Amino acid sequence: VEAEVSGDFRQAMRRHAGGVAILTALEKGEPRGIVATAVMSLTMTPPALAIAVNRSSSFIQSLDDGGRFCANLLHRSQAELCRQFAALPPAERFSVGEWATGRLGIPYLPDAQAAVVCSLGPVQVFGTHRLIIGLVDEVVLSAQVGPLMYVDGAYAALAPVS
Ligand SMILES: Cc1cc2nc3c(=O)[nH]c(=O)nc-3n(C[C@H](O)[C@H](O)[C@H](O)COP(=O)(O)O)c2cc1C
Repeated sequence: VEAEVSGDFRQAMRRHAGGVAILTALEKGEPRGIVATAVMSLTMTPPALAIAVNRSSSFIQSLDDGGRFCANLLHRSQAELCRQFAALPPAERFSVGEWATGRLGIPYLPDAQAAVVCSLGPVQVFGTHRLIIGLVDEVVLSAQVGPLMYVDGAYAALAPVS
């Protein structure tokens, strides 16, 4: 029963479209990052979001190290950058894309829809993952709304419904 539930759960979550982000941080001053869909708005007062990061991810070290991260909410024009970034080893990922450095030193993508810089808030470990609350320090908005999505194992863009 458990195997069946977990298989069905995987299929269910594949249908739960997610906006794609690149999470960035600094590890001993070096940029590190991962592609992530587990990014959600949490509260407006205070401005806070939540991310979920696999405990075996290279990104965990940079979170512990820098105490701050940026959620770059990708634009649909950034699918290829996202693919390439995800395919590279951790230390080489920033060789693709036009990166800038924010006021707080964290690398961000000016062409993303938005870049949200956060300080580490409360953390909850659950199984394979860390659920991390980010306290928003700084937001950079670009002109375009047009999210890059991930659904059923593929990148996608939104179409309006009337
Ligand atoms: C579309 C997509 C969404 C992902 N979402 C997450 C996520 O929300 N959390 C996470 O820890 N890893 C996520 N991953 C996997 C990470 O990008 C990364 O490969 C993983 O955390 C291992 O990190 P490392 O390769 O730097 O060691 C996602 C990958 C893809 C392609």
